[in-house]
Amino acid sequence: MRVLVTGGLGFIGSETVIRLIENCHEAIIVDNLSNSKIGVLDKIEQITGVRPHCHVVDCCDEDGFEKVFVEEGKMDAAIHFAGLKAVGESTKKPVEYYTNNLLSTLVLVKLMRKHDVHSIIFSSSATVYGVPKRVPLYETDPIGEATNPYGQTKIMIERILSDVNKADPSFNVILLRYFNPIGGHPSGLLGEDPNGIPNNLMPYIAQVAVGKRDHLNVFGDDYPTPDGTGVRDYIHVVDLAEGHVAALKKLKENPGVVVYNLGTGKGTSVLELVHAFEKATGVKIPYVVAPRRPGDVTENYANCDKAFKELGWKAKLNIEDACRDAYRFQTKGASK
Ligand code: NAD
Ligand code: UFG
Repeated sequence: MRVLVTGGLGFIGSETVIRLIENCHEAIIVDNLSNSKIGVLDKIEQITGVRPHCHVVDCCDEDGFEKVFVEEGKMDAAIHFAGLKAVGESTKKPVEYYTNNLLSTLVLVKLMRKHDVHSIIFSSSATVYGVPKRVPLYETDPIGEATNPYGQTKIMIERILSDVNKADPSFNVILLRYFNPIGGHPSGLLGEDPNGIPNNLMPYIAQVAVGKRDHLNVFGDDYPTPDGTGVRDYIHVVDLAEGHVAALKKLKENPGVVVYNLGTGKGTSVLELVHAFEKATGVKIPYVVAPRRPGDVTENYANCDKAFKELGWKAKLNIEDACRDAYRFQTKGASK
């Protein structure tokens, strides 16, 4: 398939582009470089031997984006990764988050309909479940109340895409709700490379491991979990990328609107992840216990049976693989 990949130079997008190429699809990247670097394209080429078409365009710029559709001609589907994703930042810059995430999606869908592209895979998030009443989370569980503008955009976009399908049932929508993506490409060339102080646990641990940060702050050890620290479902980004290849295949059935959790089905606490990292890399991670981070839920992990049943997909790698690959990237590919 010829697949338009918005945000294809980002953390999850670049890994997915690699898996698409390795599975004989053609990826056409659109990225505005707001949170990525053009050098990622060289790394994709180095890994796959293929240099995908890449357009440095903002998805909110309808005229610029339409030129991509005109130039590229027939495309079979879009995978929409482009968006702003920092939870904390979204509470300080709500207008930027609503504008970028909603407008990029609206422009994309408008252009897809105009240029006869009938299928979209959207990067949603476990955040749409809000505060879980119970775990594991199933796709049938109610959408919760997002505690921040970022989460609201995911809920709104899920709704918008479902409404587009209602108006035109030939428009297929696959909503992929990611849990916590971590790790990087096994070559060490690609991974998560946040600007400034990392918000997320794994890039923070990786920066402590190379001495870029002094110690990890563990946000709370008084949660009602076995060791008192927060529990999440950490999924290797390579597995996550595979999930998109599986979802593309599903589009051939004209499924209408379908939603899948992409996680491992297993919860891991902050301290378990720290210890797994130490075991996988042999590097000690000093940490101190700090107060809880506002807005954090206690425990969050997925039931992924539906993705296995309907997509034939399940996560194969474990957290130690992810720790090793995150560390390799930190020592090799990441900005110093
Ligand atoms: P990322 O920031 O690494 O990648 C997003 C890419 O989109 C970047 O390359 C950025 O430059 C680009 N971009 C942003 N706005 C754009 C626009 N208007 N036009 C064109 N390009 C634009 O983030 P990621 O971790 O790869 O996440 C990809 C998607 O998955 C996002 O939609 C994110 O919300 C979602 N998601 C991520 C996580 C996570 O923990 N990483 C969890 C759940 C969902
Ligand atoms: N944590 C720490 N110290 C840190 C960073 C995080 O103890 O320096 C803890 C958090 O308190 C939490 C766990 O590590 O218990 C995971 O936190 P992350 O920030 O890595 O991830 P979140 O679960 O908060 O959020 C992530 C993405 C969201 C996405 C969500 C989906 O950042 O975009 O997963 O589950 F919506």
